[in-house]
Amino acid sequence: MDLSRDRITIRQPDDFHVHLRDGDMLKRVVRSTADIFRRAVVMPNLSPPINSLQEAFSYRERILSSLGVGVNFTPLMTAYLTDDLSPNVLEDGYREEIFTAAKLYPLNSTTNSSRGVSDLRLIDSLFETMQRIDMPLLVHGESVEPDVDVFDREKVFIERNLVPLLKRYPNLRVVLEHITTREAVQFVESSPSRLAATITPHHLHINRNAMFLGGLRSDFYCLPVVKRETHRLALRKAATSGNPRFFLGTDSAPHSRKDKETSCGCAGIFNAPYALESYIEVFDQENALDKFEAFASKNGAAFYGLPFNSGSITLVREDQVVPNTLLGETTEPMDKGLVPFHAGETLHWSLVKND
Ligand code: NCD
Ligand code: ZN
Repeated sequence: MDLSRDRITIRQPDDFHVHLRDGDMLKRVVRSTADIFRRAVVMPNLSPPINSLQEAFSYRERILSSLGVGVNFTPLMTAYLTDDLSPNVLEDGYREEIFTAAKLYPLNSTTNSSRGVSDLRLIDSLFETMQRIDMPLLVHGESVEPDVDVFDREKVFIERNLVPLLKRYPNLRVVLEHITTREAVQFVESSPSRLAATITPHHLHINRNAMFLGGLRSDFYCLPVVKRETHRLALRKAATSGNPRFFLGTDSAPHSRKDKETSCGCAGIFNAPYALESYIEVFDQENALDKFEAFASKNGAAFYGLPFNSGSITLVREDQVVPNTLLGETTEPMDKGLVPFHAGETLHWSLVKND
């Protein structure tokens, strides 16, 4: 790392949680990730979900063929856990390096989770296999039981589901994805080193007031939903602490404007285009630029057992204004436009790409 007050060069980072989608949307969003990150852990919540070797293999091919020439990007594929998935699929996929990890969505917890797991006890054979072969389990940590308040879902999931799971599988490697609460931060900090967490840029920048500022703001609606200010502050402290158990995972989750702005709008924030500038702003504000490289480029790779990237990227302290919409806005603005996180705001850092 090379750091001065107005310029920082770090190893090329990885995104440990991204939704690249498929079809036209994939083509529109993939470069936002692939131009910046060397590798990304690609979420499997397509419809139907990615949960066979064949599907993962062809999805990876579709991602690679949508990149264009000369883009050096490795998608790391994940398997979508379902009640009826065979352990052999995970074992074969992990050994053949088609799957990097498997993703647990509690049933009906988020976008395309209607094939998610209805009861963790039903997939003990999958957890046993993953523990034995040391395949990481990625968790969408929200309890969806009807008695649970939407803002308490993460906390309750940790108490009711995650604690017993970690007890039953003492060697299972687990990433609690996109954490949103002080309780999750404290839980990770006080757990053994086989538990880590990703943190998104939006959970570091906004609290739940953003969703209601002057009206209903669907652009700030994501899952797990953003929480109160105290939680945001705890997340900022964790991300910038240098603790190797916290690392970068954008959870960039694009939905068209039409799908966001409807009576039952989709959850997800499209943050990939300015993700690094968004994160570094937080590290700068917290006087922790010296911790940025570990969070963005080292902690995740170390946890997953991947080599550090050899390339580098440079950011300079230079203002840029984020556009209000990206892609397709001229023809059908409501249908096709994608609103990036920080739309209309000025960010204070800009990327300079190195070779
Ligand atoms: C994600 C999506 O749209 O795929 N949405 C989101 O709000 N984060 C799913 C997810 O990660 O929960
Ligand atoms: Zn996600």
